[in-house]
Amino acid sequence: MSNTAIAASGLRKAYGDRTVLDGIDLSIGAGTIFSLLGPNGAGKTTTVNVLTTLLQADGGTAQVAGHDISTETEAVRASIGVTGQFAAVDDLLTGAENLELMADIHRLKGAERKRVIGELLERFDLTDSARKRAATYSGGMRRKLDLAMTLVTRPEIVFLDEPTTGLDPRSRRTMWEIVRDLTDSGVTIFLTTQYLEEADQLADRIAVLDQGRIVAEGTPDELKRRVPGSYIQLRFAQVAELDTAARILPGSARDDEALTLRVPGDGGSKSLRHLLDRLDEHSLEAAAVSVHTPDLDDVFLSLTGHATTEVTAP
Ligand SMILES: Nc1ncnc2c1ncn2[C@@H]1O[C@H](COP(=O)(O)OP(=O)(O)OP(=O)(O)O)[C@@H](O)[C@H]1O
Ligand SMILES: [Mg+2]
Repeated sequence: MSNTAIAASGLRKAYGDRTVLDGIDLSIGAGTIFSLLGPNGAGKTTTVNVLTTLLQADGGTAQVAGHDISTETEAVRASIGVTGQFAAVDDLLTGAENLELMADIHRLKGAERKRVIGELLERFDLTDSARKRAATYSGGMRRKLDLAMTLVTRPEIVFLDEPTTGLDPRSRRTMWEIVRDLTDSGVTIFLTTQYLEEADQLADRIAVLDQGRIVAEGTPDELKRRVPGSYIQLRFAQVAELDTAARILPGSARDDEALTLRVPGDGGSKSLRHLLDRLDEHSLEAAAVSVHTPDLDDVFLSLTGHATTEVTAP
């Protein structure tokens, strides 16, 4: 497999006269975590369904694990694992039985079947509940079991559609750790989320999806830098230094109590160097320098003109 796990160009999908995907381009490096971030109805699940061959696109092309999604569906399916937005867990079966069913579907047999299932139960901390019906599991346990079922086949690319929606903060963190562990073993993760913090925490690259279009793409930091409002904060040891700094850095805002000065700037190395040079020229030394970038909520708002929680009207 090449270094690109997923490549898509101009993917389109419409339901009737409603365009749901409006030309999606993607390039996702192998072994990385990619996050598709968007509010309800943005087209996240539709994108996942198209890339995983569950749904046929109306236009555009994509390769997943080097295979064409429209002409090599079997090869694509053999390379991927999908954990859907709604758990595929069978409530009537126990945790272990759910995993055994997956193993049987994929024709794992004998000692290997036993070993794979045992390892997954262990890894997801489900060994003690393995003989209990899934109906009795908490939301977090169901999500873990669902992901464990996805991993039975050892896929090289894993699609996770909103893996932590509805989970409490602790279960969410557990899921984040599991996702990070997966990339340690070389797996590529395609993750959709409505949580800006989640994309920020996990993703190497984020694409912001709004009404079927990618409105921004980059590393979490790149996205944050695209939004006005970032600043560099300088803290001084003495008020005299703060006075001088405020005088030579017009447009800055001072906080006399904290002895800090906020200087508007994008936090890039160039503006930072310029700022430090200015301080040097006046023999000023900051006790602390920190860059404050807006969070991804600000990013979404400034890119799309509306907040992430807003439901897109059909
Ligand atoms: N089978 C379908 N028929 C008609 N419209 C559909 C169908 N599936 C999805 N849509 C519409 O396509 C749009 C995108 O849906 P999609 O499920 O991809 O959004 P999403 O980003 O996954 O949202 P959520 O965060 O709520 O899961 C929505 O407006 C939805 O109503
Ligand atoms: Mg969805």
